[in-house]
Amino acid sequence: MGSYHTGSCTPTNTKISLSLFFLLVGASAQLSSTFYGKSCPNALSTIKSAVNSAVSKEARMGASLLRLHFHDCFVNGCDASVLLDDTANFTGEKTAGPNANSLRGFDVINTIKSQLESLCPKVVSCADILTVAARDSIVALGGPTYTVPLGRRDSTTASLSAANSNIPAPTLNLSGLITAFSNKGFTAKELVALSGSHTIGQVRCTSFRARLYNETNISDSFATSLKSSCPTRGGDNNLSPLDVTSPTSFDNAYFRNLVSQKGLLHSDQQLFSGGSTDSQVKAYVSNPATFRADFANAIKKMGNLSPLTGTKGQIRTDCRKVN
Ligand code: HEM
Ligand SMILES: *[C@@H]1O[C@H](CO)[C@@H](O)[C@H](O)[C@H]1NC(C)=O
Ligand SMILES: *[C@@H]1O[C@H](CO)[C@@H](O)[C@H](O)[C@H]1NC(C)=O
Ligand SMILES: *[C@@H]1O[C@H](CO)[C@@H](O)[C@H](O)[C@H]1NC(C)=O
Ligand SMILES: *[C@@H]1O[C@H](CO)[C@@H](O)[C@H](O)[C@H]1NC(C)=O
Repeated sequence: MGSYHTGSCTPTNTKISLSLFFLLVGASAQLSSTFYGKSCPNALSTIKSAVNSAVSKEARMGASLLRLHFHDCFVNGCDASVLLDDTANFTGEKTAGPNANSLRGFDVINTIKSQLESLCPKVVSCADILTVAARDSIVALGGPTYTVPLGRRDSTTASLSAANSNIPAPTLNLSGLITAFSNKGFTAKELVALSGSHTIGQVRCTSFRARLYNETNISDSFATSLKSSCPTRGGDNNLSPLDVTSPTSFDNAYFRNLVSQKGLLHSDQQLFSGGSTDSQVKAYVSNPATFRADFANAIKKMGNLSPLTGTKGQIRTDCRKVN
C-alpha cells in the first residue's frame, strides 16, 4: 500500500481524493442534522412539542406516527408520498391494502406542517417532519433517541402499486419477511430489530384472526383472552395491543412475548418459530440495551432510504397535496 500512495500529497491528487470522497459518500452527504439550523432554527422544537402533546393526549398516536414513517420509507423512499390524498386526477397510497382503514396520524402531521408554514414558509419538508415526528414518538414512549439527518424533499408522485407490493404483509413467513427487508437493504438482524416497533400500538382483529383460530404456535391463554373481542366472524376493526404486556412503552417486552408464543401477528411469531432469527430474539430478551442500540441504528437507516435532495421534488406547503 505504501508505494501506491506515494505522492498522494500533491494538490492534484488531493483534489481527486476529495471528489472521490464526495462521490463515495454520495446522497447521504446531502442530508445533514443541521440542515434547518439557519433557515428554520425552531423546526425541531416545534415538531417535538406537537408530538409530545399528541402522545400525551393519546399514547397510541406515537405508534401511529412511527408506522406512518415506515409506510412512507418502504415505498420509493422517505419522500412523504404516503401523505398525499387521492383526488379526481391523482392516485395516492392511502387506499393501498396495508394502509386503508389502518394508517393514522395524518392530522398531527398536517397540524405540524401548518405551524411550520407560519414559522418558516416553504422551508421544512413533509418528509423531514414525518421522520422527526417518528423519532420524537419513539422517545416520548421511552425508546432510544438518535439524531435525524435532514434535507429530504417531498415527492410529486405516489405509487399505489408499490405500496401494495413493498410493505410486508402479516401473512408472510420468515423467508418472505427476510426478502421484503433485504429488498430495502436490511439484514435479517435489522428485520428483527425494526420489528421491535411492535412493542407499541394496536392491531385490528382482521389482521390476526387467522392466527388466533388456525395456528398452533400460540399460547392457549393468550389466544383465549383475545377471542371475545376478535370472534371468528364480525368485529374486524376491534383493536388489540401488539404488545400485550406494555402496549404504550417502547421496551423489549415484544421479544419476551415472542418467546412465550404471544406474538399477535403471524409475522411477529415467525421471528421466533424455530428458524434462523430465534437467537436474535433471545439476544434482545436478555439484553434490552442491545435492542435499543440496534433499533436506533436501523430506524435511522430506514429514514435515509432514497431521499429526494437538492433540486429534486419540492417542499410541499400542504402535506396532503402537490404544490
Ligand atoms: C416486519 C414486517 C411487518 C409487518 C408484517 C407489519 C404489519 C403490521 C400490521 C398488520 C399492523 C396492524 C395494522 C392494522 O391492523 O390496522 C401493524 C401495526 C404497526 N406497525 Fe407494523 N409491520 C411490520 C413492521 C413494522 C416496522 C418495521 C415498523 C416501524 C418501523 C412497524 C410499526 C408498526 C406500528 C407502530 C404499528 C401500530 C400502529 C398503530 O397503533 O396505529 N411495523 N404492523
Ligand atoms: C386535478 O384536480 C384538482 C382538484 O382535485 C384540480 O385543482 C387540478 O387543477 C387538476 N389538475 C389537472 C392537471 O387536471
Ligand atoms: C414461505 O412462503 C413462500 C411464499 O408463500 C413459499 O413459497 C415458501 O415455501 C414458504 N417457506 C417456508 C419455509 O415455509
Ligand atoms: C382457518 O383455515 C381454514 C382452512 O384453511 C379456513 O377455511 C378458515 O377460513 C380459516 N379460519 C380463519 C379464521 O382464518
Ligand atoms: C413453533 O415455535 C417453536 C419454537 O418456539 C418451533 O420449534 C416450532 O417449529 C414452531 N412451529 C411452527 C408451526 O411454526
